[in-house]
Amino acid sequence: MTEFKEIIEFDVGTFDDSRNLYYTQYFNEYYYDAFRPNQGTEVVLDILKRDGKSGKWLDLGAGPATLFWSLMLRDINELHCNELYIEGLKVLDDFLKGDSVPQCYKDVMNMYGIDSQHLVNMRTLPRKYYIFDALTEWPSDLSHNYDLITGFGVFGLTTNPEDYIRCFEYMRDFLKDDGHAIGANWIRSQSFIDKGNTDNRFMNMDLIKRAAERYDYQILHLSEERIENDENYDKVLVWSLCKL
Ligand SMILES: C[S@@+](CC[C@H](N)C(=O)[O-])C[C@H]1O[C@@H](n2cnc3c(N)ncnc32)[C@H](O)[C@@H]1O
Repeated sequence: MTEFKEIIEFDVGTFDDSRNLYYTQYFNEYYYDAFRPNQGTEVVLDILKRDGKSGKWLDLGAGPATLFWSLMLRDINELHCNELYIEGLKVLDDFLKGDSVPQCYKDVMNMYGIDSQHLVNMRTLPRKYYIFDALTEWPSDLSHNYDLITGFGVFGLTTNPEDYIRCFEYMRDFLKDDGHAIGANWIRSQSFIDKGNTDNRFMNMDLIKRAAERYDYQILHLSEERIENDENYDKVLVWSLCKL
């Protein structure tokens, strides 16, 4: 079982500079400039809009992107964000507390007819920040009644099929019955792997089917989307599951 910590205050004096830089760069690089079509993101957004349950939401490996995915959700009344490192939660917290609206958000809001009040509502939700490792057994201190758990780009950080499948087991206990789990895992390209990144091409739709069967989820959506014009990623696996 991993360390579990709720972050109440950010003591920036203890922060690691390189992690800070990583999350700040990530924030400025992803979902910031104009929306990039044909990268699979439209499918993730559509599935979130269709299957994103209202109520209590946990976003795993949130990084600075929770507000982006929240664009598609309705009637969320509590937001919990998870990260491995506090520096990631601080970048997210600063963004949530501010009022900036990056171009990518504006584009998605135009595409889906979302008004600016939605962002205000999401930015002011009651929220909690939790540090724990989402790729191993989850800490029992966490709520066990989430309506919605999302994981974008997290389970795909595992290094073999069994570890990947087990992530769906760890998550299961923390969802309400009929709760939904929605996620996406980006599959790396040969050139990105050649640069020293782990090969995660073992991930495929069969693994998700196996996980759903083993841990009693109904599959609401499962697809593998091709990513065009990206040096680092070839495909993205998009899944939406209901806890039976
Ligand atoms: C590819 S980024 C995705 C960030 C964000 N969810 C998004 O949609 O852009 C992966 C995130 O998972 C976090 N992470 C990595 N390992 C983790 C773990 N074992 N448990 C929880 N979060 C983790 C990283 O710090 C990073 O913010």
